[in-house]
Amino acid sequence: VIKGFAFDMDGVLADTARFHTIAWRKIADEVGTTWTKELEEGLKGIDRMGSLALIIAAGGHENEYDQTAREALAEKKNTNYRELISKLTPADILPGMQNFLDELKLSVASASKNAPFIIERLGLDDYFKAVVDPASVSAGKPDPAIFSAAAAVLNLKPEQVIGLEDSAAGIKSINGAGEISVGIGDATVLAEADVNFDQTADVTLNAIKEALDKK
Ligand code: G6P
Ligand code: MG
Repeated sequence: VIKGFAFDMDGVLADTARFHTIAWRKIADEVGTTWTKELEEGLKGIDRMGSLALIIAAGGHENEYDQTAREALAEKKNTNYRELISKLTPADILPGMQNFLDELKLSVASASKNAPFIIERLGLDDYFKAVVDPASVSAGKPDPAIFSAAAAVLNLKPEQVIGLEDSAAGIKSINGAGEISVGIGDATVLAEADVNFDQTADVTLNAIKEALDKK
């Protein structure tokens, strides 16, 4: 019996993926990596230092940036990103998610260290029993650790939890944790999800039930 939901944040609850893109593109320009849709998609769900490593590697610049230089670039990205998210309001909750939240009991499983700030800006803190601290888990998405922790904080077994995600890395994390995965976005990118919706506005408890029954 399904008893809980674990939400990804960026791209599921909050319309922030566009801000990550703006801030990372500047860094890509600085290191000399060409920005592509594939690179942009591949950064979703990946933690800050992991995202930077992908951007550096995409342009073949691995040997030009040591750990100290990487930390400075990540810091620069985050400063720019924090500026962009400082003006978030409840209007930046993705379509349909407020209504969906009103139906449920929940936790957040985001790779973002900015998650508590964003959830507060959106006015959603009362909904969530916990926001898992990504620094507290052994490895980031696609590793199952963060979605396992998201079930544990709800005192639920993984099979009692549905995870919601807009990234391929996140769907792998949910599936690895033994939870039911709901993908939101391009069904070809999220092909491993148990069920898929094109957009947040389509996600309701009933729609999830119907999609799972059809499987
Ligand atoms: C989410 C986003 C990623 C981002 C990561 C870390 O998973 O999808 O694009 O890199 O969080 O976010 P942070 O706010 O800690 O840099
Ligand atoms: Mg996301």
